[in-house]
Amino acid sequence: MPVSDTPAGRPALDQGRLADVAGWQVEVVPETPSTNALVSDCARAGTAEGLVITTEHQTAGRGRLDRGWTMPPRAALAVSVLLRPDVPAERWPWLPLMTGVAVVGAVRELGYDAGLKWPNDVLAHGRKLCGILVERVEAPADSSTGDGAAAVVGIGLNTSLTAEELPVPTATSLALEGGAPVDRTEVLVTLLRHLSASYAAWRERPDELAATYVELSVTLGQRVRAELPGGGALVGAATGIDRYGRLEVLPDRADDTVAVGAGDVVHLRPAPTTDTGMQ
Ligand code: BTN
Repeated sequence: MPVSDTPAGRPALDQGRLADVAGWQVEVVPETPSTNALVSDCARAGTAEGLVITTEHQTAGRGRLDRGWTMPPRAALAVSVLLRPDVPAERWPWLPLMTGVAVVGAVRELGYDAGLKWPNDVLAHGRKLCGILVERVEAPADSSTGDGAAAVVGIGLNTSLTAEELPVPTATSLALEGGAPVDRTEVLVTLLRHLSASYAAWRERPDELAATYVELSVTLGQRVRAELPGGGALVGAATGIDRYGRLEVLPDRADDTVAVGAGDVVHLRPAPTTDTGMQ
């Protein structure tokens, strides 16, 4: 559907209000296949940290684990942020979790209920409100910018999707949660402010950010079933998050936890009490 055909009640983003948000340089493009792809190109070209690209209509969004991410025009926020963290690469797996903390903080400030399903799905009443995809972009070998690797932080937040427009029945949107029209510009401004705060905490006070993540988590303390590539599954209590952002699971009748990374888990589901141990 062309952007001009969008339903009433879905105004364009207000670029004036996005001009100076917490030091971010925000660009709005009318339509693009993927904001992550656009920002990745900018990262490879040497663009500085702080670029934010959002769009009125993302037509071929990228999701985690090579899944897609779809959204009708102006019914959601598709946002990608260019970061160049001066933090050791071993800590970068925390970036998606850091972003999740920012999104939940923003959504809660706006008056909605939300929590974090490990690693970074933002849920409202058990339904997915927002997905996050962080991609690492290496500096080209012949780079003259000297900027090193970049992180492209992609956020897809369902703002005004109706029940009929949801990509899957287990998703939700702010409008469905709150029952009122949603101002996407206000949501984006709030989100970028929280991203600034979470990003600073991650770089300078990682233990504080980790404690906030634990507070917002709806996974920790639950019995979970982590489905692994190849068909196996790890079942047990989700007990913690390690310094690499991995979920620590204590399998039933085991003494030691097992840590699984986000890339190792195809699905994470609540585990029925009859499941036991490694399978
Ligand atoms: C997920 O699968 O849960 C992550 C979805 C991430 C979607 C966002 S929308 C903005 C950015 N651009 C993309 O192509 N993907 C991310």
